[in-house]
Amino acid sequence: MKTAANTTSRNDPCWCGSGKKYKKCHLPADQKQVPASKEKTKPKGRNIILKTEEQIEGIRKSCQLTKDLLNMVEERIGEGVTTNEIDEWVHSETLANGALPAPLNYGRGQGRQRMPFPKSVCTSLNEVICHGIPNSRSLQHGDIVNVDVTCVLNGYFGDASRMFIIGDVPERTRELVDVTRECLNLGIDQVRPQNTLGDIGNAIQVHAEKHGFSVVRDFAGHGVGIEFHEAPQVLHYGQPGVGEALRENMIFTIEPMINMGGFECKVLGDGWTAVTVDGTLSAQWEHTLLVTENGVEVLTA
Ligand code: MF3
Ligand code: CO
Ligand code: CO
Repeated sequence: MKTAANTTSRNDPCWCGSGKKYKKCHLPADQKQVPASKEKTKPKGRNIILKTEEQIEGIRKSCQLTKDLLNMVEERIGEGVTTNEIDEWVHSETLANGALPAPLNYGRGQGRQRMPFPKSVCTSLNEVICHGIPNSRSLQHGDIVNVDVTCVLNGYFGDASRMFIIGDVPERTRELVDVTRECLNLGIDQVRPQNTLGDIGNAIQVHAEKHGFSVVRDFAGHGVGIEFHEAPQVLHYGQPGVGEALRENMIFTIEPMINMGGFECKVLGDGWTAVTVDGTLSAQWEHTLLVTENGVEVLTA
């Protein structure tokens, strides 16, 4: 895999457009970035599945149900609601629509002592980056929370998430949530045949860093549809023109996780909950996308 750190000279202008020399700008960070081929979460030995028309139709339906479930959450969520209640709503409405919640019992047999995910939805509150487990805590004025829904309908997966702001929050917190959504949309704008995964990651990284936020490195978007997590890994940082080229009928998610402070994260003792190391807030938005002949179809919109 080509990276800017091994293709750009130290004294060249930085790829981010800052006008600074590369060595004074993104070189140190690029050297820390693990090439995608070495990342531990990369699905090993699996190829990108180009979907057939029949599969696309099935995934489209599953994605539309995912969107409907998020709309249902959006109508009901508010101060005083517990994340367990959100889990119950998503669980029962998913089943009522003839589908299954993909997170429930996901990860069995993955890792040594890791328990399967115990709930039907991920609820990631404040400093939680992703994979938060619903519990009895109720949402409070000033919280921000991501609700991440994945359903399996007739064997096809759809995956999307949104942020919700509970009551009033400081201006900078609202900016984090808004900029993260803009990052997702700027990433989507890069989706068309012949553009690369690096074009997506770069658009996201440049926008987040322009606003003084950081991009989480340890989790990525992913191919989706026939399985929950397929190749390729869709990094939310990178350099233009680098990485895998996009092809018609690829289906993958873009799901940037953007932090108010540093990008470092750690996973709590439950084996799932990923939080910011410095305790600052984190936001995330996710859509499932289809690469079309001329561009993109947002399947979860
Ligand atoms: N929905 C998450 C994603 O976007 C994955 C959740 S895995 C779970 O990839 F087990 F935590 F549900
Ligand atoms: Co996803
Ligand atoms: Co998701």
